[in-house]
Amino acid sequence: MQLREEKLQEPNEEAAVQISDSDCLQQENGPGRVTKEEHLDLHHAAEETPASSLLEEKQVMSSLPGETMLSFGELLIAEYQKKNQLEFKTMFQLQKSAHLHSSRGVIPQDDLVGQPAGCFRKTHKDVPVFIRRASLEDYVLHMKRGPEITHPKDAATMLMMMDVMEGDCVLESGSGSGGMSLFLSRAVGAKGSVLSVEVREDHYTIAVKNYRNWRTSWASRRGQEWPDNVQFENTDLCTASSILTGRGFHSVALNLNSPHLVLPSVLPHLHPGGICVLYIVNITQVVDLLEGLRCSALPCLCERIIEVPVRDWVVTPALEKNGEYCTIEAPHLDESLRQKDETSDESEDDDVGPSFRSIPYIARPHPEQLNHTAFLVKLRKFES
Ligand SMILES: C[S@@+](CC[C@H](N)C(=O)[O-])C[C@H]1O[C@@H](n2cnc3c(N)ncnc32)[C@H](O)[C@@H]1O
Repeated sequence: MQLREEKLQEPNEEAAVQISDSDCLQQENGPGRVTKEEHLDLHHAAEETPASSLLEEKQVMSSLPGETMLSFGELLIAEYQKKNQLEFKTMFQLQKSAHLHSSRGVIPQDDLVGQPAGCFRKTHKDVPVFIRRASLEDYVLHMKRGPEITHPKDAATMLMMMDVMEGDCVLESGSGSGGMSLFLSRAVGAKGSVLSVEVREDHYTIAVKNYRNWRTSWASRRGQEWPDNVQFENTDLCTASSILTGRGFHSVALNLNSPHLVLPSVLPHLHPGGICVLYIVNITQVVDLLEGLRCSALPCLCERIIEVPVRDWVVTPALEKNGEYCTIEAPHLDESLRQKDETSDESEDDDVGPSFRSIPYIARPHPEQLNHTAFLVKLRKFES
């Protein structure tokens, strides 16, 4: 039997921060909140729950600790899944009198205010769309970009390689679109600081804007400030001695071309034992870097060169061409066992389809994968 999926997942790059206008289609039925029953149905959760415990659950679970219900200014993600396949995903900022538009219909954004952060809302076409808050990873992947960002999977590993801690002083360059700056900002916290240096004025402007947008939406979400701990500077790191003078850094993150050219300016400001992690796209650039280090005899050791592979998987019930679930053919049993098996089949029948573990699954790496992003090179400074 050929196992097939209903539809392949689309890449989720469709939208930058999407703020829809109020010029929307007329709603015939009016999008409504998805009822508890429909919500449960969407999750194939057929269990009966007493009303009192539903109320209790709602009081305890309506928002994450420290967070309130949705309010204007927040960055949200809208997702629509059909039969376990993501059909669309978009980020938008919740705005008064605005509308969320998608191929599946329109939702007035005013209706989302005061709702819990993970809820289904129906479009005017009666399609349930899942609404949730944007994580920092979502934001960085969907925000308006100038140059390519340090991919979040690499940013997370770089933070680990740098051994960044709360309160650290960190140097970053180039600021690019401001993606890595936000991850560093969160890692060092209110007691730490990040100096982010960008040579191009247009990139500097984008990075600052993305940083401010995230901080503003965070204040709407939490009712408190995201630490204002990143200092952006529009200058060439090779000649940035005036802003580096008198500063010492616990660690450094570099994502720029020809990093071997900036290391002579940077290393004197890295504390001995401190780490400099470089994000380098081509292996030939890694070779240039190592050659540069060898020839200039800079006081650092190359400890590691790695790649961070992440593999998405498809794990979903297999479907026939007509959309029905595939079924697993039962093993041939002797007559007494067959009778027993048939009886138990009848009692297990319910309205959620074939019984537990009686259908085959698609379970294999997703055909659309994120391929190579970069090599991460870890240098450690030694006392010269
Ligand atoms: C790929 S982007 C960095 C992306 C960033 N890490 C992010 O997550 O958004 C590389 C940036 O380095 C900047 N750059 C290149 N050489 C530089 C230098 N010598 N000093 C400062 N910035 C530099 C480029 O202008 C570009 O904006």
